Amino acid sequence: MTVQIPQTYDDLQQKYQSFISRRDNDRHLNIFWETNPSKFNENNGQKFIELSGGMPHESFFPIDSMNLNILKEPVSQDTISVDITKEKPDKLPLLRTLQYALSEGFQPLIDFIMNFITKLNNIPLYDKSLWKIIIAGGSCDSLYKFFETCTDESTTVMVEELTFVPVISNIINTGAKVIPLRLNLDNSDEGIDLNYMESLLTNWSKGPYKHLNKPKFLYTIPTGQNPTGLTQSIEKRQKIYQLAQKFDFVILEDDPYGYLKFPKFNHKDPNSNIYKDGITSQEYIEKVLMKSYISMDTDGRVVRFETFSKIFAPGMRLSFIIMNKFFYDKFLKFQEISTRQPSGIGQQIVYSTIHSMAHSSNDNDVIEAWLQWIMKLAGNYTERRNVMLESLYKTQSYKQNLLDFVEPSAGMFVIIKIHFKGDNIIEQMNDLAKIMDNNGVRAILGYKMAVDQNFSHDNLNYFRLTYAYADNTAQIKEAIDRIDKSLVQYFAK
Ligand SMILES: Cc1ncc(COP(=O)(O)O)c(C=O)c1O
Repeated sequence: MTVQIPQTYDDLQQKYQSFISRRDNDRHLNIFWETNPSKFNENNGQKFIELSGGMPHESFFPIDSMNLNILKEPVSQDTISVDITKEKPDKLPLLRTLQYALSEGFQPLIDFIMNFITKLNNIPLYDKSLWKIIIAGGSCDSLYKFFETCTDESTTVMVEELTFVPVISNIINTGAKVIPLRLNLDNSDEGIDLNYMESLLTNWSKGPYKHLNKPKFLYTIPTGQNPTGLTQSIEKRQKIYQLAQKFDFVILEDDPYGYLKFPKFNHKDPNSNIYKDGITSQEYIEKVLMKSYISMDTDGRVVRFETFSKIFAPGMRLSFIIMNKFFYDKFLKFQEISTRQPSGIGQQIVYSTIHSMAHSSNDNDVIEAWLQWIMKLAGNYTERRNVMLESLYKTQSYKQNLLDFVEPSAGMFVIIKIHFKGDNIIEQMNDLAKIMDNNGVRAILGYKMAVDQNFSHDNLNYFRLTYAYADNTAQIKEAIDRIDKSLVQYFAK
């Protein structure tokens, strides 16, 4: 296997041209406005008059200013008050954020993201001039646009057998085929089953998907996977990256939960919470966070999707992607002719909030302030995770072996597997869900998140629970009590 490290844009183009969709190859962006700077000399006091852009004049915008009250930390009542005006903040005033702008997003926010991911070492290993960051309207938007750019009827995409289902629709709608990869659903070797994956790829021409082209993409949620809550080990990530090089596929790393990372559940001390004990941001980066696939990427084959949904607010509809410049250009073209640009107000609020949390506008202070916020959030999630697992261990259902579950060390989800008797799992799941509903608790039925129910026949018997949305930990305990009661009722039939 010879790995070629891209040195130039042409290298990227040569290597990744075949990863671009038929539709993108036919797609043209007709630029009807002048992009060259004017040669008009403004030195004599006369301003250049712009009559080309179809932009409303700023005095026609109905908003004059905004006042944000920003929480000092999650759940707290203490706030910091910030004014955003037509001139403030300097680098991103309202005059700019309410106006049409560049499709890639506002440079001050991109600069912040660049500083942040650099601090976290979530950056590729190849030349910095050959990769870029683009802002989009939430990871769903990022993923939709990426598949629109890269997949078509000839493409095969590997995904985890249980996954974030909207992505499957995105892929299939482009005509591409999705194939499931087996997951290890236990805490000993979490995530994609490497033996299965390697054997599938090695024996492709004799395997169950021999009628399809070899896969060009792997879509994976490596940390706090949705729905399983699993986190891939570093060793597993390294092996998957090596397989990507050997079998020439691109890794699409969707990582909305990566920052919500916590140590394994401590059975001896269920309340233990490193965030409450006080850890530094450096310890968080070095000892708690998982290494991203992008930080192993020597040849431009990782595309990393991040979102502000889980660490800021989903309603912002704001995300970003880190990818090689060749993919970036193709993506940008599609963004230009589809949604045009991510929301200016969304970018404004995220930028201003994060900058207002800091003691000064110094880049390091801003990064530290945002890390502190994220760590406090992770501390709250740790507490909720602990309470949910401790409650599950105490249930009658667990003690009577009616259920078991996988302990998550990241994200928002726990899956509980129900030990049904007989084969009609889906029917039994539906019946149990009705009893749960009558008892006032609802969860996601796992079979609805399977890529292929026949393939995942043995993994359909679970519910996905989240500890993210309860009002407080007392409510989490009450929810588990209700699930317990429902199971005991169901199995007593
Ligand atoms: C794996 C995964 N990707 C993407 C998303 C959606 O993220 P966004 O709100 O940024 O569109 C979610 C959240 O629900 C998710 O679980």
